[in-house]
Amino acid sequence: MYLRTPCSNHPMPRVKLHDLEFEPFISEAEVNAAVDRLAAELKTKYQGKRPLFIGVLNGAFFFAAELVKRLDIECEITFVKVASYLGTKSSGRVTDLIGLNERIEGRHVVVLEDIVDTGNTVKHIMDALADHHPASISIATLLFKPDAYKQTIPIEHVAVNIPNAFVVGSGLDHDGLGRNLPGIYRIVEQKTNA
Ligand code: IMP
Ligand code: MG
Repeated sequence: MYLRTPCSNHPMPRVKLHDLEFEPFISEAEVNAAVDRLAAELKTKYQGKRPLFIGVLNGAFFFAAELVKRLDIECEITFVKVASYLGTKSSGRVTDLIGLNERIEGRHVVVLEDIVDTGNTVKHIMDALADHHPASISIATLLFKPDAYKQTIPIEHVAVNIPNAFVVGSGLDHDGLGRNLPGIYRIVEQKTNA
């Protein structure tokens, strides 16, 4: 459960998820506008190529749905699961792609991520998919943290670039909570008394 702060009529009050507090950062309207832009970009690039979109669960369920409903082109959408993250720090642990049954060879593949942080997860996914000889692979992500990124693969399609802070909402969670929040919330840094 998260508790809304009871004080105001603000459309995006602060929220508490487990032990941490989060404040409004990007509104639902801004997220929608960013996804609109990205959908237009992908439509131009992939029209007539019947792309295969691969959403990375759990976080990308929201972005995947918002994106593909804006894409009036012939396309397929599937999901894989990769566990690589615990708590608020990227652990670097990755596992195999679970649930990928589609034939990848010769396909134009677009990996859909909720967020690219260090890039370790997306690197692992790209390596695993490259073994299946797709015609092309690109990455589309709702959020990208350029300052945290440690890989060299270009992140071609980004809805919103954000600073290196922990965020939740629009599919992103803190230990399971917060995925259902519309918009994006940023962690409130605890003040330490010197
Ligand atoms: P990376 O491997 O470091 O790029 O991390 C990718 C995964 O870590 C994402 O798919 C998220 O599940 C998780 N992650 C990274 N940053 C955040 C964040 O700010 N909030 C919630 N989850 C995050
Ligand atoms: Mg994720």
